[in-house]
Amino acid sequence: MRWRSVVATAALLVLAAGTPSAVPATAEHRTTHTISYDRYSLMIDGERVWLWSAEFHYFRLPDPELWRDQLEKFKATGFNAVSLYFSWEYHSPAPGVYDFSGVRDVDRLLDIAEEVGLHVLARPGPYINAELDSGGYPGWLTTQAGRARTRADDYQAAWEEWFDHVNPIIARHQLTDGGGSVVLFQIENEYDRDDAVYMEELKAAARADGITVPLFHNDKGRNLRWASGPGAPDLYGTDTYPAAFDCNRTSFPAVTDYRFLRPGVGDRPFIWGEFQGGAFDPWGGPGYERCRAMTGPTFERMFYHNNIENQFTVHNVYMTYGGTTWGWQADPNVVYTSYDYGAAFNEQRELTEKVPVLKQQAYLVASVRDLLKTDDLGQQAGTDPAIRVWVKENPDTHAKFYFVRHSDPTSAASNATPFTVDGGYTPTVAVNGRDFKILTAGYDLERQRLVYSTSEIMTHLDLGDRDVALLHGRAGEAGETVLRYQSEPRVRVLSGAASTTWDPARGDLRLTYVHSGLTRVRVDGGGRPPLELLLADGDTASTFWRLDSNTGPVLVRGPYLVRSAEQRGSTLQLRGDTDAPGSLEVFARPQVRVVLWNGRVVRGGTVPGPRPVTFPALTDWGYLRDVPEADPAFDDRGWVAADHLTTNNPTKPATLPVLYTDDYGFHYGDVWYRGHFTGAPTGITLTAGTGRAGIWSVWVNGVPLGTVNTGTASGNQNSSGTFTFPDGLIRPDADNVVSVLVRNMGHNQNGGSNDNHKAPRGLLAATLTGSDTTATWRINGGDPRRDALRGPQNNGGLHGEQAGYPLPDFPDRDWTTVTLPHRETAPGIAWYRTTARLDLPRDQDVPVGLRFTDDPAHHYRALIFVNGWNVGQYVNDLGPQHVFTLPQGILRHQGENTIALAVWSADGSTGGLGQVTLEALGNYTTDRG
Ligand code: GAL
Repeated sequence: MRWRSVVATAALLVLAAGTPSAVPATAEHRTTHTISYDRYSLMIDGERVWLWSAEFHYFRLPDPELWRDQLEKFKATGFNAVSLYFSWEYHSPAPGVYDFSGVRDVDRLLDIAEEVGLHVLARPGPYINAELDSGGYPGWLTTQAGRARTRADDYQAAWEEWFDHVNPIIARHQLTDGGGSVVLFQIENEYDRDDAVYMEELKAAARADGITVPLFHNDKGRNLRWASGPGAPDLYGTDTYPAAFDCNRTSFPAVTDYRFLRPGVGDRPFIWGEFQGGAFDPWGGPGYERCRAMTGPTFERMFYHNNIENQFTVHNVYMTYGGTTWGWQADPNVVYTSYDYGAAFNEQRELTEKVPVLKQQAYLVASVRDLLKTDDLGQQAGTDPAIRVWVKENPDTHAKFYFVRHSDPTSAASNATPFTVDGGYTPTVAVNGRDFKILTAGYDLERQRLVYSTSEIMTHLDLGDRDVALLHGRAGEAGETVLRYQSEPRVRVLSGAASTTWDPARGDLRLTYVHSGLTRVRVDGGGRPPLELLLADGDTASTFWRLDSNTGPVLVRGPYLVRSAEQRGSTLQLRGDTDAPGSLEVFARPQVRVVLWNGRVVRGGTVPGPRPVTFPALTDWGYLRDVPEADPAFDDRGWVAADHLTTNNPTKPATLPVLYTDDYGFHYGDVWYRGHFTGAPTGITLTAGTGRAGIWSVWVNGVPLGTVNTGTASGNQNSSGTFTFPDGLIRPDADNVVSVLVRNMGHNQNGGSNDNHKAPRGLLAATLTGSDTTATWRINGGDPRRDALRGPQNNGGLHGEQAGYPLPDFPDRDWTTVTLPHRETAPGIAWYRTTARLDLPRDQDVPVGLRFTDDPAHHYRALIFVNGWNVGQYVNDLGPQHVFTLPQGILRHQGENTIALAVWSADGSTGGLGQVTLEALGNYTTDRG
């Protein structure tokens, strides 16, 4: 047993239900904090916190400046936490070699998260899944003899090496003692073997590496695995994807009551390590807009409200921003280049229609602190049976919360029911379709007293001279809010319509209204500070932004996004984005006299929109057919001899030598083989492992023999072909060469702990037919260490990749100039290169896309390189992706850009390249700070 420093670490962290952990200061200048918990929530320095968390993958957004942009967007929309997977393979091209610089600088990422004000859930695996090649394992791990996710020595040595590199970085950013904002640390992911010792090893290694925050695991599917007993971390986390992953689906199932987890979770909070926020989409799939529709606002309201009812006070939405699985990072079975995921923020970082509900919920759990500690009182009797009213109470303040939805959560009907509120009130609440409402009663709303409301609370704030409360409901539905006063207050309806009645016996001010646009009510007197009550429908509510400034909370209405607020004397400085000119209204402390928007004084209550942008047409394409490897005269003596007779791979080859690409150190992208033979075989039979949607092509003595597609049927990994050599082409006494180009679409994930990531890639079997002669083979692929800047997964083994065609300074003057569309007359690889000079406004955020337009009857695919970066793969006859997002760290917005496309035509008649255009995917004024 090699559990490391278990005893020493145990002394570092004393975590018990309700007891703050005793974490000693490691350096005097660092602030230390305690993280404790009980059955209701985590507590930071004794104060309850609802972690409303967004899953974000830095490796899917290769630009640290844009990390800040997206994290600020999370923060502005109410998230107070971000969950980060760390992808081992993104950092390690070879055993012992690790890179944490540039787009891999996770130290900087954790700094940014802290600066933006987000807590961090750190999830470094070692296994993470995440629809990544090998589920995040480095390519070199596929050649290990030992089984991954077990105690095998070689596997353990490898993950310890990863932990020892990544954990010290995470440790430097812990809230407990690192001066940062990391609050939780996940070991493994959905670990479904029974190996408690392996889990103990991981826990001990994390502690030995300096991790002092609570550890949790993400249990696949709520099975209470690793909830307690040997191998269990401090906390129990789990995940669920109730709408699953087929985005053709137009509906979703009923919500689940998760209270069955309580006995297993005990006196610890409920944690969603992941709750569905969208879905992945495979090659040939329906596209991410369908995923966004499947998991849209109705889904979000139904499921996340149910999670609030079930007290999941650690709530991580996977994904909230998906991004791009650029380079060769993707698992081939379930995703293509885009990992947009139909998430709340799309691949180009824009807010979608899924943001408003998440924002309402985030603002609610942050503002209504009584929600953080609630006990179930149970289902209220006497309501219309079609409607379920579930009551919860804060045991300290006795504030009550009513969770209202249809009894049958799949019902699309419209119903209404009276329900009872303490004090003998029986308001009516409506449920139209698959709606869910969280209503509040008996609650101290800042310095006001809310008797009850049939509107939902979004947020409320104390601005000194007055309180402001923002309540909302579905457009067109009636609402009723009752507030308590000592004497009759003065009520003015400033805009919209509301009726008021005063009940002197109870001291109740009753407002009735219909949610429609914005109704503003000002209440003065009655023995309380003034109240500005904002009653909004859903669309209007989403135009409000709550910010925590240095002088306290601020509410802003109007712009597309408000990132931050800071008060300097009588000036309030706001930073944010607009998509059009529009109005800006500020609810701030009375001292504020001047408002600055992105550094400029706001006059007349309006802020400017973006200026229009234009893009150059992509013309003057340089063109070069480039398959020198197929030429019999090509000198392959510098290639690696593929002569292994044994392999660690659990799948043994049908023929020898072993031709698996990983066994020769080539883990990503395309791999070339040249087989030399003499004699008079009549043909060759080959099997290739490409992963789903892969392709390979064969030549003999320079003559194309054919192309094979692996196809997209579920489970497709490999494909075979038999090729007959053309008459008279083989010279029995001379050197003949068969050349094979195989695209490795990526390695499988290893979710089932069955070593599926080792499913071999490259040629799996090769047999010359019609003779007993055999070939001697050489192999050439991409060296994962070659491009340190762009990383191990940027390049494969195409000749052009190795000759530098994708790079900006490559001299292509002698290439042929063509215009698009351009038709190809031979199978194999041809390169197209052009440049584009952009001059986009510096103060605008213009996400840029590269669009491909062609008839799917043309059988070709393109690797897309922008300024040398492999931003993805376009497959013309599969799709569904036709637009590729080019992040700004890769694309120069002011200056020249090189676009190089490596096009693989499957045949000599339908290949080539269709139209390719640059376009704006959005246009915003911004101040990213
Ligand atoms: C989970 C897994 C994640 C991701 C997700 C689906 O089961 O933990 O890594 O694969 O499914 O997107």
